[in-house]
Amino acid sequence: MIKLRWGILGAANIARQKMVPALHASNYCDLIAVASRDEAKAEAFAKENSIPVAYGSYEQLICDPTIDAVYIPLPNHLHVEWIKKAIAGGKHVLCEKPLSLTTQDVEDLIALRESSGLLIGEAYATLHQPRLYRLKELFDSHKIGRLSSGHGCFYLYNRDPYNVRNAYTQGGGSLWDIGVYPIVVGRWMFGEEPNAVSCFLDIDNELHVDHLATGVLKFPCGAQFSFTCGMRFPTDTHMTFYTDTHRVDLNYAYSGGSGSQAIFEVVEPTKGTSQTFNFDNIDQYRLQCDHFALAVQKQETFVGSLEHTLAQTKVITALFASAASKQVVEL
Ligand SMILES: NC(=O)c1ccc[n+]([C@@H]2O[C@H](COP(=O)([O-])OP(=O)(O)OC[C@H]3O[C@@H](n4cnc5c(N)ncnc54)[C@H](OP(=O)(O)O)[C@@H]3O)[C@@H](O)[C@H]2O)c1
Repeated sequence: MIKLRWGILGAANIARQKMVPALHASNYCDLIAVASRDEAKAEAFAKENSIPVAYGSYEQLICDPTIDAVYIPLPNHLHVEWIKKAIAGGKHVLCEKPLSLTTQDVEDLIALRESSGLLIGEAYATLHQPRLYRLKELFDSHKIGRLSSGHGCFYLYNRDPYNVRNAYTQGGGSLWDIGVYPIVVGRWMFGEEPNAVSCFLDIDNELHVDHLATGVLKFPCGAQFSFTCGMRFPTDTHMTFYTDTHRVDLNYAYSGGSGSQAIFEVVEPTKGTSQTFNFDNIDQYRLQCDHFALAVQKQETFVGSLEHTLAQTKVITALFASAASKQVVEL
């Protein structure tokens, strides 16, 4: 098996914490290089993370002919620019979420993907979580009734004025950073795209980005899904779904949890009974790397496709439009 040879643009936290271990663990990937705007930072990152090559600029890494694919964990407003540069350098690209802040950019990237023949994917590791595939199967089978509504939250605490998540011009705010997770899982579980959305945003007085957002997605089948995300709260990532007969609860919804936390619970309220589904502790980031490499080899389709990104970006931008206009936005 020829392994996909990767380079990383930026000594980012998410790379250090999740994607470097995932790339090292994958049977389909080799992590070759990291680039930073600061050469010493790149060298230190490479040494700490057993990466053979360090570059002092992103351009140098993109020019390295031994690299097949680039992982982009840069601040949100730089994603599209560096995807385009990596594609021009002949690299496949896996870019962090949210891949783009506008639908027009996604459409341009679809055209670029078609003309280049290279793969461009969005890194929603959540979309590779085995527990959620089992849950989707359960909903689709109607064995626990028909899915009718749900709610997902993502809370964390971040009031650091130097963090890119608190910079409006860099694609900051709670909706772009964490609200996207319940939305991506909600769209997946309901299996269709919403035809109307509404949203309220609370803008932080000092940081000028949304620090609390609540929205509703209405689906053509009549089902409704709501979400809340916020950056002034203790961390919580819970989801609840309701069918006409059952309720499903899951904690650590977007990361899969670890060990005994990788479960979901199906409750039948009228009977007062519940069943717990347990899952092995599988690294969703490693699965994401495996699936991307297999998609490059055309052995499977990558779930974080640009078509998926386009649908997701339409929903997020419609939610912002709803909050700005104080109206329901139809899609
Ligand atoms: N999938 C997930 O589970 C997950 C989790 C967290 C974050 N993310 C996403 O990953 C991306 C990065 O998040 P992070 O928390 O890892 O960010 P981070 O630690 O701040 O890293 C971002 C990196 O971007 C580079 N950079 C280039 N231009 C920059 C600029 N103008 N300002 C700041 N940094 C700049 C820096 O690398 P150099 O200085 O080395 O060049 C920096 O280390 C975001 O898109 C975020 O939404 C995804």
